Amino acid sequence: MTGLEGKCALVTGAAGGIGRAVVRQLREAGASVAAADRDLAGLDADACLPGDLTDPAYADYLPAAAAGELGGLDIVVNNAGIIRRGPVTGCSDADFTLSMAVNVEAPFRICRSAIPLMAGAGGGAIVNVASCWGVRPGPDHAVYCMTKAALASLTQCMGRDHAREGVRVNAVCPNEVDTAMLRSGFARRGFDPETAVAELGETVPLGRLAQPHDIADVVLFLASDRARYMCGALVEVNGGKPVS
Ligand SMILES: NC(=O)c1ccc[n+]([C@@H]2O[C@H](COP(=O)([O-])OP(=O)(O)OC[C@H]3O[C@@H](n4cnc5c(N)ncnc54)[C@H](O)[C@@H]3O)[C@@H](O)[C@H]2O)c1
Repeated sequence: MTGLEGKCALVTGAAGGIGRAVVRQLREAGASVAAADRDLAGLDADACLPGDLTDPAYADYLPAAAAGELGGLDIVVNNAGIIRRGPVTGCSDADFTLSMAVNVEAPFRICRSAIPLMAGAGGGAIVNVASCWGVRPGPDHAVYCMTKAALASLTQCMGRDHAREGVRVNAVCPNEVDTAMLRSGFARRGFDPETAVAELGETVPLGRLAQPHDIADVVLFLASDRARYMCGALVEVNGGKPVS
């Protein structure tokens, strides 16, 4: 028994590395899942809600759409995210605007819509996917770190503000995870992703990079009643590797 049987969940970024693992593991645990991403072709989910999170109307409506498709809404996983590399001096207006829209504004809109729905139905759990790189300053990713810090702060504030309504809000903060987000960054800088991932794994005290299921396991824990007394927590999942 996982405690997730029969629960209804919305997962954003569902077609990405971590998102796919979260969708699969939630469904294996007995939950119904509404998947949200730009392209959901070939993804197994109980409902597919394709769209672009930079569209405010789409983000605002996602929780109600998920509840309508699944017959309720108990869990929201704000997992979609983008990364832009470089210091502030290398960041364009477009990088800033897009990073804020996807990493901050969309989770804000989704939480704002989801919380009253969940509270009205007796409660629920929101899990935001922030980053260790939002809890501490990471090198050469100023705007990404800022957006993840904003999401971490929003999580802490909402965790306090909505606990009395039975809505628990927490965040998972991974360090590097072996997904397209990481590998495409290596490829853009001219590194062989396979070699770079192996070398990066050696810098982790546990001896390997995180795989998506390592993060999804913690997402499911925070979404479940096993985390029933956790509100506003930022859970670092880093294999022992600090941001350096
Ligand atoms: N991979 C890492 O090293 C790492 C580390 C810490 C935190 N994270 C966070 O984990 C989350 C998942 O990342 P991932 O590594 O699985 O990356 P990923 O690139 O594999 O997945 C991200 C997903 O978000 C979706 N997305 C992006 N912009 C969107 C938009 N405008 N509208 C709708 N969907 C959109 C993408 O289509 C993609 O499927 C992100 O929030 C990321 O910041 C990742």
